[in-house]
Formats: sequence, structure tokens, C-alpha cells
Amino acid sequence: MRALVFLLVVAVANARVYDRCELARILKNSGMDGYWGVSLADWVCLAKWESDYNTDATNHNTDGSTDYGIFQINSRWWCNNGYSRTSNACGISCSELLSPNLSVAIRCAKRVVRDPNGIRAWVAWRLHCQGRNLSSYIAGCGV
Ligand SMILES: *[C@@H]1O[C@H](CO)[C@@H](O)[C@H](O)[C@H]1NC(C)=O
Ligand SMILES: *[C@@H]1O[C@H](CO)[C@@H](O)[C@H](O)[C@H]1NC(C)=O
Repeated sequence: MRALVFLLVVAVANARVYDRCELARILKNSGMDGYWGVSLADWVCLAKWESDYNTDATNHNTDGSTDYGIFQINSRWWCNNGYSRTSNACGISCSELLSPNLSVAIRCAKRVVRDPNGIRAWVAWRLHCQGRNLSSYIAGCGV
């Protein structure tokens, strides 16, 4: 029980919800603005609707795979979670996508967007960002 409480405390301490503009600045500094033709506002909008900027977000899918982290990257294709069948195209453990340090998640998101589907791989982007005026997502961020 003590071990369980300890683990829960660690899990909560590691959760990190980014501020919209802080995320925009990190993504910009990581070369995401215009990466593979995807604007910075698209990335921020995507993160908003996929995870609400929460690096700790996980969601289970009906096919048995799980989506991880701020960009909700899927274990079927991109990362290994140790139990679902995976192509692991990012060559990482899925838990690395939950880190408050976004460097692994950003590197993997760049890998995802280089695939033929591009940013359309993200359902939330198609539903909430595609074809919209996204200027509010980076407004006032100085980016
Ligand atoms: C995040 O991790 C990368 C790779 O390990 C490291 O180079 C970088 O300094 C870290 N960033 C922060 C803000 O800690
Ligand atoms: C997008 O919205 C902003 C703020 O409402 C506005 O200033 C801008 O002109 C709009 N851009 C387009 C292309 O409609």
C-alpha cells in the first residue's frame, strides 16, 4: 500500500498541463512551425483537442491500442507499450510520450506527420482544426 501511494504521488507530480503560449513557444523552438507544411497554430490546436495540453493523457481505443501524451500518439503504429501489437515507427516506449519534457513527443509527432496521411492522421485535428481560422491558438504568444 505504501508503494502504491508512492507511485500515485509520483504519477501526479509528473503530470504536466502546458499553458497554451508556453507550448507554442516550445513547439516553435523545436522547429514545428511549418514542419512538413503544418503551421504552429495547427500543432497547438491539435494538442488542445487531443489532450487539452496534458502530457499525462492516455486514451484506450476499441482496437486494443492506446493513445499517449500531449499529441495522443497511438501504440498500434508509433510506440511500444509492451502489450499491444505495434509497428513502433518512432522506436520508443509509449511511456516516453508522457514525459513533461516534450522532446520525445515532438520527435515522434514529426515522424507521424511525415507519413502520407500527414496531419490528417489526427482525428481531433480533422474535427476541430482543419479548414478553420486558427489564429486564436497562438494569439498573444509572441511567436
Ligand atoms: C528534454 O530532454 C532533452 C533530451 O534528453 C534534453 O536535451 C533537454 O535539455 C530537456 N529539456 C528540458 C527543458 O529539460
Ligand atoms: C482569423 O481571425 C482573426 C481574429 O479573429 C482575424 O483577425 C483574421 O483576419 C482571420 N483570418 C482570416 C484568414 O479570416
